[in-house]
Amino acid sequence: MTQLDPQSTILALETSCDETAAAVIHGGRWIVSNAVASQMHLHERYGGVVPELASRQHITTLVPVIEEALAPLPRGWDAIDAIACTYGPGLPGALLAGVNAAKGLAWARGKALIAVNHLEAHIYANWLYPEVLGARAFATERPELPPPEFPLVCLIVSGGHTALVLLRDHGDYTLLGQTRDDAAGEAFDKAARLMGLGYPGGPHMERLAAGVDPGDVVVPRAWLGESFDFSFSGIKTFVLHATQRALRTGETSLLEADPQYARQLAAAFQEAVVDVLVTKTLAAAERFAARSVLLAGGVAANRRLRQVLSERSPVPVRYPPLWLCTDNAAMVGAAAYYRAAQGLQHGWELSVKPNLRLV
Ligand code: KG4
Ligand code: ZN
Repeated sequence: MTQLDPQSTILALETSCDETAAAVIHGGRWIVSNAVASQMHLHERYGGVVPELASRQHITTLVPVIEEALAPLPRGWDAIDAIACTYGPGLPGALLAGVNAAKGLAWARGKALIAVNHLEAHIYANWLYPEVLGARAFATERPELPPPEFPLVCLIVSGGHTALVLLRDHGDYTLLGQTRDDAAGEAFDKAARLMGLGYPGGPHMERLAAGVDPGDVVVPRAWLGESFDFSFSGIKTFVLHATQRALRTGETSLLEADPQYARQLAAAFQEAVVDVLVTKTLAAAERFAARSVLLAGGVAANRRLRQVLSERSPVPVRYPPLWLCTDNAAMVGAAAYYRAAQGLQHGWELSVKPNLRLV
């Protein structure tokens, strides 16, 4: 198969971390199906993702997840033009499970193979019409959503990455800044763990902070001058010291020891992270005359981040619905479509790139 036509249908797989996901995307933007099997319960008691467990779980879960994604297609495999997967960045064993499954299926079924960068996939979640449409995705009167306007600035905030990226067009990325230490999601996870909250920490922290006034608890921000880089390790250390000061010998959970202070600290932490992310994103948008601002990645699910960015931005802000912010395969299908439209395709020599960069 050569170039994908605009009406092509892609089966996409995502296995870079701890979600096993498969989705079918039509025309790059319409979701036919979106199956996600989370492994969160497996890793929860270890307080983080255990790579060996993740790979093994992907292998056992991929086939049923793919079957679930294909179920709404009346013509089954005949309706699929290409197989897409994530080849990096991510956990090597986890990526291998998805890449090998995609290669095997593409070979066996005679389909094109398209591999994408996981961060690019998070960005392209913003191009998807945010609803699972089933067979309606193929209809001529399917719902429309105008695509984001270029040039745009995208803030990618996930468990492993924090980056500000300028997109002048599809596939035209300029890295404006990135984290110098912890990723934003990692900061949420680590701070939550210090306070005795569950894993992953982001949603727990958001829930604890919801509607809470931090009062006189102020968490310091690291501005790093005019740079578009980020640093979150100081914020984490602040939470560590604050927690240690508040706990007495034998106590491990700040939430249990002093619920009121825990809520204030969570709110102050979230305000600090959101303030730095939003301020730098809007400074970048102004500097590069962006016509829209996008949020992408797991931390984009944070309601306070969405709210503050939308309130402070002079240009339209776009973010995916919650279920398309965290890892999923629909976004992989969207990114693959736009890459394929530019002629990108992979051969059987495709292998994983655990440290793959966006630019
Ligand atoms: O993109 P993602 O699902 O996986 C990676 O590629 O890393 O992001 C997961 C990260 C975790 O650190 C999690 O704590 C964070 O996203 N996260 C949140 C929220 N939901 C997920 N952080 C803050 N607020 C949330 N509501
Ligand atoms: Zn991700």
